[in-house]
Amino acid sequence: MDTSSKYRTFAEVEAQGNSEIYEEWGNGVADDLEVLALIDRLPETRRQPNLVFGASQYLGVPPGSYKSFRQWAIVNWPKIEQLARTRTTQTNEAGRTAVLLPLLGLLTGPISLIEVGASAGLCLYPDRYSYLYDGRRYLHPEDGPSTVLLECTTTGHPPLPDRIPAVVHRAGIDLNPLNVSDADDVRWLESLVWPEQEQRRQRLRAAVDIARTNPPHLIRGDLNSAVADLVEQVPQDATNVVFHSAVLNYLAPTAREEFIQTVRSLPCHWIANEGVGVIPKIDAVLATPNEQRTGKFVVSLDGRPKALARGHGQSLEWLR
Ligand SMILES: C[S@@+](CC[C@H](N)C(=O)[O-])C[C@H]1O[C@@H](n2cnc3c(N)ncnc32)[C@H](O)[C@@H]1O
Repeated sequence: MDTSSKYRTFAEVEAQGNSEIYEEWGNGVADDLEVLALIDRLPETRRQPNLVFGASQYLGVPPGSYKSFRQWAIVNWPKIEQLARTRTTQTNEAGRTAVLLPLLGLLTGPISLIEVGASAGLCLYPDRYSYLYDGRRYLHPEDGPSTVLLECTTTGHPPLPDRIPAVVHRAGIDLNPLNVSDADDVRWLESLVWPEQEQRRQRLRAAVDIARTNPPHLIRGDLNSAVADLVEQVPQDATNVVFHSAVLNYLAPTAREEFIQTVRSLPCHWIANEGVGVIPKIDAVLATPNEQRTGKFVVSLDGRPKALARGHGQSLEWLR
């Protein structure tokens, strides 16, 4: 897909309904030969709207019209380009734990969690957040309400646990682990949140504060080479869970298949929360019509689809 089409698709499929500013910027870039020529100076894997717009936010672009964005971006292009060459899209969304929790509740605890593609590891704290399902069903950590409240609407009656399962061990792998105690890493994470989504930005800061009190053990590496060692190091008396969320799309199909083979051979449960189309083997048994899957994530346990979800954990459709 050429860069113009990439930005058009981003505007029409991802940004529409989520961020008016990014929708306008995406459509603006798609029609702007001068700005497209600048973006095309980046390697192909670095031209994504989320990366270029995230870098612009990091550098202080004022949220506003496309006209003001393009003026600002042309003047600041060398700095945007440098950042887009060094950073990657590593959006870490604690909200995704709201769609993972019902699956964790199906397992016998206590639980040992290993996240591959963990970013800063904020999804490793499902036991430290509060949840509100369908505006009426609260779940709180053992020691009371959390400063992070994750709201999720559901259909299909997901089996919500009576209490949040205890997590006794948490570890993660990332090609570039972000450090919740590093101000620059946190600023980068904040810049990846879309402009109007102030509530998500505040939730991110609150989740970072929680993680800072007990930082996760994150190792740098490729998930395919590192996951087996991490599973070997977990405590004996816990139920091992390897999970990932919005990660396998970064891998080539052969590397995805290698990971699936590896994780199925390890002594652990496997929870995946990936976009439709990312793990075709899992999608193959979905009964949901194609038009109702568009833009959704498939939440699966041990290779079996259990639910469809929205990308940031805003909703969960439990499957029969
Ligand atoms: C979009 S972020 C998702 C972070 C987190 N799982 C969440 O849901 O909030 C994807 C993460 O996967 C990491 N990643 C991509 N390919 C990877 C690989 N081959 N091995 C390890 N991590 C990888 C990226 O560096 C990035 O931090």
